[in-house]
Amino acid sequence: MSTPFRICLLPGDGIGPEVTEAAVRVLEAAGRRFGFAAVFSRQAMGGAALRAGGPPFPEATKQAALAAQAVLLGAVGAPEFDAEPPERKPETGLLALRKALGCFANLRPMLRLPGAAGPLREEVVAGADFLVVRELTGGIYFGAPRGFAPDRQSAENTLRYSVPEIERVARVAFGLARGRQRRLTSVDKANVLESSQLWRQTVTRLAAEYPEVELRHMYVDNCAMQLVLNPRQFDVIVTGNLFGDILSDEAGALAGSLGLLPSASVGGAVDLYEPVHGSAPDLAGRDRANPVGAILSAAMMLRHTFRQEPAAAAIEAAVRRTLEAGTRTADLGGSVGTRAMTDAIIAAL
Ligand code: NAD
Ligand code: IPM
Ligand code: MN
Repeated sequence: MSTPFRICLLPGDGIGPEVTEAAVRVLEAAGRRFGFAAVFSRQAMGGAALRAGGPPFPEATKQAALAAQAVLLGAVGAPEFDAEPPERKPETGLLALRKALGCFANLRPMLRLPGAAGPLREEVVAGADFLVVRELTGGIYFGAPRGFAPDRQSAENTLRYSVPEIERVARVAFGLARGRQRRLTSVDKANVLESSQLWRQTVTRLAAEYPEVELRHMYVDNCAMQLVLNPRQFDVIVTGNLFGDILSDEAGALAGSLGLLPSASVGGAVDLYEPVHGSAPDLAGRDRANPVGAILSAAMMLRHTFRQEPAAAAIEAAVRRTLEAGTRTADLGGSVGTRAMTDAIIAAL
C-alpha cells in the first residue's frame, strides 16, 4: 500500500456532516478494494466554526487545508446567520476558503443517469451529459467596492473581470472540451455588461489556439431556457462566478435532484471538492439527504488529485447501478435514508 492520501474534511453545517461521512465511508471502501489508504483531518468551517466562537474560516482550518493534498467540504450555511454581517456569515468563510486555495476553475458535471427520476420528462433529459466550468475566485462575488451605504438605503456589488482571470478559466474549459465532445459554449450577458463583452472577446481570441474545439457564445438568459428545452446540445459550458452558480443549480433539476451533483475546484494550491448543493437545513439530522453529490465529489477527487481512475470509475458505476436498481432517497421519490443509500453504494462497489 502506498503513502496514505492526506485529505482535509470540512463537514460544515446542516446536511454537510452527514454527506461528508457518507463520502468518507465510500473512500474507505474504495481504498480497501483498490489498495490505497487515506488519513482525514476534520476541521471547523462555516456555522460550526462560528458557534465554536471563531470566524467562519478559522486560521487552523486554513493551515490544515493548505497542508492537505485535497479538501472535501460538505456544505455551509444556517438560517441563524442569515442576517449577520459578512464576517459572521458561514458563506463568507466558504468564499475565503476558495480564495485561499486559489482554485479558480469549478468543474460541475451534469450526467443524466438512467433511473434518476426527477421532475423533467425523460425524453428531454435522457442522455444529457455536460460540464459547467464556473469561474470561482472572481467576478461579482469578490469585486470591490461592495457593501451597504451607511444609511443602509442602498447597497452595491462590483462585477469585474480581468483578461488574465478570463483566460485562465477559459483555457481550462477549452482543454476539457478537447477531451470530450469538443463543443464549448461560453455564457455571458454581453448585450448589457461590459465585463461580459471583455469575457466574450477574450474567449473568442483564445479559440484560435484550440481549432479542434467548436466555440459558440450564448446569453445567460437564453442558456437558462436552452438547458431545459434541449440539454443534449451542451458539452462544456464556461461562464462567470454568478451565472455558473445559478445554471449549475438548474442542472440539478436535469440530473433529477440537486443532491446528485458533485464538483471539483482546481487550478490552485490544493484541489477542493464539494457537492453543488447547500446545507439543506430542512433535511439536516434526519437521515434524509441524498449523499450521491458528496460521494461523486470523492470520486472526482480520486480521479483528479490522486490519479486513481479505476477507483473513481468504480464508485461512479456503483452509484449508477444503485440508482438503476431503484434504490433512491426521498428527493428522487424514494424512501431510502442517507446511511442506507451509502450502504447500497458500498455494497455495489
Ligand atoms: P440547498 O442546496 O441547501 O437546498 C435547496 C433545495 O434542495 C432544498 O429543497 C433542499 O432540501 C434540496 N437539497 C439540497 N441538497 C440536497 C440533498 N443532498 N439531498 C436532498 N435534497 C437536497 O440551498 P438553499 O436552501 O438555497 O440554501 C440553504 C443554505 O445552504 C444557505 O445557507 C446557503 O447559503 C447554503 N448553501 C451552501 C452551499 C455550499 O456550502 N456549497 C451551496 C448552496 C447553498
Ligand atoms: C455554491 C453555493 C455558494 C456559492 C454559496 C454558499 C457561497 O451556492 O457553492 O454553489 O454561491 O458559490
Ligand atoms: Mn450555489
